[in-house]
Amino acid sequence: MTQPTLFVCALCKFPTAETSDTTGGQHLIDQLMPQFEDGTVNLQPVRCMAACDRACNAALSAPGKLTFIFNDLSPHQAAPDLAEFCRQYAAASMGKVPYGLRSPAIKQAIAYVLPPLAVEEVEAAIAR
Ligand code: FES
Repeated sequence: MTQPTLFVCALCKFPTAETSDTTGGQHLIDQLMPQFEDGTVNLQPVRCMAACDRACNAALSAPGKLTFIFNDLSPHQAAPDLAEFCRQYAAASMGKVPYGLRSPAIKQAIAYVLPPLAVEEVEAAIAR
């Protein structure tokens, strides 16, 4: 099984003004880290995904699988559902998690789904 990567914007703000010494995105990342200690998913913080007004933002991808783009993830509540979806994605052929198995929060947060790159394109990119 190929390890998927979950990209999470570390710079996304909390959706409401909060007194905090961290960002909403970093808070979400901190909540996700313990969920992936088993190595099933590579959690990769990124700096801005160009959808700042739809914070928090994340993307899930793996070679040969669909790519899911998420918007409006709650920094306080999204981690358990997002982690579960990542595990479902890791186990699913081409990342096609059946719609009925997705949590309501994940159904709402999925903004885009992109098709997988052709295997040859992935292999060429890795070889570079
Ligand atoms: S700060 Fe997160 S998408 Fe721009």
